[in-house]
Amino acid sequence: MRFGTVGAALTLAGLAMGYYMVGERTGVHLRVAHSAVGLLAVVLTLITVAMAYGGLKLKKRVLRLAHVWVARIAFAVMLFAVAGGLRQAGVL
Ligand code: HEM
Repeated sequence: MRFGTVGAALTLAGLAMGYYMVGERTGVHLRVAHSAVGLLAVVLTLITVAMAYGGLKLKKRVLRLAHVWVARIAFAVMLFAVAGGLRQAGVL
């Protein structure tokens, strides 16, 4: 398993924990902006993995370039999710 795939698997585990946590507390999913940003980060991460394994049918060179850029955007969105999450938790 590649390094990036492990990261994506951990991201999915985090999503599952967040979903469970919200279910236990308010029961209202995707209630705050952080949730939407976090979900977008997860979706972009999954698209990045699909591209890495060639799941999306594009020319190899185009796929590689798109993979790198989607990964960069996913990472940036994830930083926003972390900042929003810390704010949501009252740390920031
Ligand atoms: C230090 C980092 C983080 C903290 C402290 C944090 C904290 C939280 C908190 C407190 C909630 C509940 C919001 C509510 O009351 O509705 C939440 C929900 C959520 N978080 Fe995070 N979060 C963090 C990072 C992330 C990251 C990196 C992602 C995605 C990659 C993410 C994705 C989500 C999602 C999707 C939900 C909504 C779950 C649902 O509505 O069922 N979080 N987070």
